[in-house]
Amino acid sequence: MSTAFHAGNGKVTVPDILARKSHPANFTEHKIVALTAYDTPTARLVDEAGADIILVGDSLAMVVLGYETTLPVTLDEMLHHTRAVRRGVRRALLVADMPFGSYHVDTAESLRHAVRFVKEAGAEAVKVEGGERRMELIARLVEAEIPVMGHIGLTPQSFHAFGGFRVQGKTVEAAEQLYRDARAVEAAGAFSIVLESMPRELAAQITSELRIPTIGIGAGPDCDGQILVLHDMIGLGGEHTPKFARRYVNVAESISRAVGEYARDVRNGAFPADAESFHLSAEVREQLFAGRRK
Ligand code: KIV
Repeated sequence: MSTAFHAGNGKVTVPDILARKSHPANFTEHKIVALTAYDTPTARLVDEAGADIILVGDSLAMVVLGYETTLPVTLDEMLHHTRAVRRGVRRALLVADMPFGSYHVDTAESLRHAVRFVKEAGAEAVKVEGGERRMELIARLVEAEIPVMGHIGLTPQSFHAFGGFRVQGKTVEAAEQLYRDARAVEAAGAFSIVLESMPRELAAQITSELRIPTIGIGAGPDCDGQILVLHDMIGLGGEHTPKFARRYVNVAESISRAVGEYARDVRNGAFPADAESFHLSAEVREQLFAGRRK
């Protein structure tokens, strides 16, 4: 597969993301800007608009494929969409989410799956959900030169274990577990960690204790960066749009309006106009239709 970029030309790399941590939290221009993407055209837009990290999230299952949770999306589907995103991304760091089931059986199989994301789909890092219990896996992937982004808090692949999508870390015990998880992910060698749906005070404290950057989603403003699901941000998230997502534009409204206008124009004959049609030359017209005139 072609990699049409070279580090040093503005390309965001794993060391660049790590280096953002060394800046004080009030240096807002160093905050990491991350978004999801699932296809080439939107990936290109997100990349050209300046995102630092583009995640091919397994949120694909819900926002693009129409499932109720992230659990059904397959390894092959994630690889397919990662390849599509790769074709649109030049500058941002491209991270691929390992889907449910692809890193839960054993370490050797998980490593083979992670290698596929890098080798066949052009990912520069993978993301896995879970804290302490992922230490061995994260260390193995890092040893194999695959950078890993951790993900703790509301890990959507734990939907059944959590009994739904719920804010995590609200009790002393739960918060202590999240501290342990964050430290474990860092100790195992991850280069960054997503903190999802947890009280902002807890995310702020974890951020101040870790040496790797934290990337928040529903975790308050004190993380080293923020990530949102693109479809939530542009108004295509449907009924699943969570409380923490800010909608910057309503693309759903624009699409509905455009489709309504198109339907009206087709039905009343206003589309297509002559300018949107092709023409035969006068000569061909003459030969073709001469004998057919009544
Ligand atoms: O799948 C996804 O989009 C994610 C982000 C919300 C972090 O995991």
